[in-house]
Formats: sequence, structure tokens, C-alpha cells
Amino acid sequence: MARTALLLGLVASIFFQTALAGLYGESNLNHTCAIVKNELSCSANAVPGLVDSCCVETFGGLVLATQFWSTWTGLESEGQLLPKNSWTLHGLWPDFCNGSYTQYCDLSRQYDPEPSPKTTTGTPSGTPVPPYTGPGIGTFLATFGKFDLLAWMNKYWIAQAQPNQDFWGHEFSKHATCFSTFDTECYGPSYQPHEEVVDFFTTAITFFQRLPTFAWLAADGIRPSNTTSYTLSKIQASLTAHHGGLPFVGCTGPRYNATAAGKGSLDNGFTQFSEVWYYYHVAGRPQRADGVPVDTGSYRTNCAKAEGAVWYYQRARGSETCVR
Ligand SMILES: *[C@@H]1O[C@H](CO)[C@@H](O)[C@H](O)[C@H]1NC(C)=O
Ligand SMILES: *[C@@H]1O[C@H](CO)[C@@H](O)[C@H](O)[C@H]1NC(C)=O
Ligand SMILES: *[C@@H]1O[C@H](CO)[C@@H](O)[C@H](O)[C@H]1NC(C)=O
Ligand SMILES: *[C@@H]1O[C@H](CO)[C@@H](O)[C@H](O)[C@H]1NC(C)=O
Repeated sequence: MARTALLLGLVASIFFQTALAGLYGESNLNHTCAIVKNELSCSANAVPGLVDSCCVETFGGLVLATQFWSTWTGLESEGQLLPKNSWTLHGLWPDFCNGSYTQYCDLSRQYDPEPSPKTTTGTPSGTPVPPYTGPGIGTFLATFGKFDLLAWMNKYWIAQAQPNQDFWGHEFSKHATCFSTFDTECYGPSYQPHEEVVDFFTTAITFFQRLPTFAWLAADGIRPSNTTSYTLSKIQASLTAHHGGLPFVGCTGPRYNATAAGKGSLDNGFTQFSEVWYYYHVAGRPQRADGVPVDTGSYRTNCAKAEGAVWYYQRARGSETCVR
């Protein structure tokens, strides 16, 4: 079957300049998703061969919509600020259905100036991921006239200690290249270079906008504070009730039992609330944003679990901008 596809691809390339670069080396013909069933990712039918992997996510079917809470950017002096009353977009990640994952799946679409990890496996035996030195990924949007998208991204998709577009390049190349549904073949013979980059950004944004973490927590009395701390289970309960699945709740900062409050405790979880990862299975391609919320797997949190051990800090003065 692969051989047949390859042959057809070679013949078609004379007319269509077929590129067989994706996760499955599929042809760029016949990916009309409107006429195929929107199977749910990670279901029994969502496997290559049974479905069009351009129309149903068959590679990274456990989709994570991830967000950050940070209190500073490090590039405030250049106007890189955090949006008031909102978390920021981290990314949209394709985990395997069992929760493990791959990264940097197509080095021909490597736009990350600071690859992390530096090889595809994160170990010295993996394939090196060369740092990208070309024009920032944000410049790709101009070709498509998406200046509004670029402006939105500079408000809500904010990096820490690096320019925003370097972070967007990281998110795209590390993660988006590991979705079957963002393979360039899926876009057909008239594919425009970077078309799928715009598609990935807008898809990640669509998920993000349905996950108003700040407002959800605030509705349950959990607001940024430098004087009141919170209990992890309360944060988890709030987010689970609003989203429909238990998300991963991430923390940074000192470990609880390394702080004065946790002295003598055996709880060595981190104390500064900083991340949420919402999990989904998706019906049809993720671009449709038809997600079914699911619980995170066994990795639920790295935060301290003790009563009142978690800090949801206010942003630093001067790190936040007013949006709308
Ligand atoms: C595309 O679809 C047409 C019509 O069903 C079919 O004849 C052709 O073989 C398909 N080509 C590929 C590469 O799948
Ligand atoms: C998880 O699934 C992937 C993709 O099917 C597979 O390659 C990997 O070996 C699995 N990992 C585990 C720990 O089962
Ligand atoms: C912190 O907790 C860990 C895990 O329970 C324990 O091994 C360690 O000794 C504790 N450290 C301190 C300083 O209490
Ligand atoms: C709140 O605390 C965080 C963490 O220590 C700090 O970065 C931030 O500047 C503080 N914000 C305010 C408004 O004091």
C-alpha cells in the first residue's frame, strides 16, 4: 500500500509537486475531511489504514491544551508583557494515547532557535535538532495577511526569557510536527509553505479560548494573591468541574518542605502554581476543535499537596498589560 502511494505520488509530482515528508509519507491527494467520519482519536477506529490520518488524528491522539501562569517575562523593557486577568497560551501537544510522546517529528520544519531538548529523544543517541537561524516564525504570518493573529499572539502567547516568536517556533516544531493532521500533505497539491503553521496557531488558540483558567478559578474564589495561599485539591476540583476532566496542575518554585511553612514535612512538591494541561480526545481533525475532555494520566501534579501549600502569585508590577 505504501509502495502504491509512493508510485502515485511520483507520477502526481510531475503535476502537483508532491512532497512525501509527513509522518506516514501519504499522498497529498484526497484529504477531503468533510466526507469522512469524524472518528474520535484514540478510539479503536482511529488508526492509519482505517481512516485518513489527515482527517482523524492517528499519531498524537491525546491532545493537551497547555497554559502558563507566570509573574514576569524578563523582556518587559521591550514591551513583552502578560495579559491582565488571563493565563497565557503554552501550546497544543499531541501525546500518544498511552501518554508518552515524541517531539521534533519533521526536521524539515524546524523553526526553533533554541531546541529543547537538543536531540529528538533528549539523549545523546537521538538525532540532533539544529538550532533555527532564519526569520522568526512570526514573520510567516505576513504572507497570509494575518497581522491580527500576530497581534493576538503577542498579547496572549507569551514567552519567558526569550522573544515570543522564538517560543512559538519551539511549540510548532517540537509539537505540531507530531500531529498527523498538520502534515503538509494534508493541505493538497496547492499547499502554500507555512499554511499549516497558521492552521496550528489558530487551532491552539481556539482550544485556549475555551479554557478561561483565570475566570474559572476566580469564580471559585481562587485569585492571584501574594498574601493568601491555596490548597492543591481545591484548584484541581475547580478546574475539573469547569473543564470536565482532571487536568495536570504544575508548579515551580521551592519545594514545600524546603520552605519555612513546610519545615519538617515529607511533602516535597513545588509551591508556585504555574501550569495547567487540559487533556482531550478529538473527533476528526484537531482543527475542528471538537474535543472530548479526559483526565490526565498518572502524572497528575508536581505541586505540594499539603493544606495551603500552593501560591498563586500576583504578577510583578510592570509585567502586566491591560487587555481590552
Ligand atoms: C483519489 O481519489 C480518486 C477517486 O476516488 C481515486 O481514483 C484515486 O485513486 C485516489 N488517489 C489517491 C492517491 O488516493
Ligand atoms: C505508547 O504508544 C506508542 C505509540 O503507539 C508506542 O510507540 C510506545 O511504545 C507506547 N509506550 C508505552 C510505554 O507503552
Ligand atoms: C522532603 O521530603 C522528601 C520526600 O518525602 C524527603 O525525602 C526529604 O527528606 C524531605 N526534606 C526535608 C528537608 O525535610
Ligand atoms: C507577588 O509575588 C511574586 C513572587 O514572589 C513576585 O514576583 C511579584 O512581583 C509579586 N507581585 C506583587 C504585585 O507584589
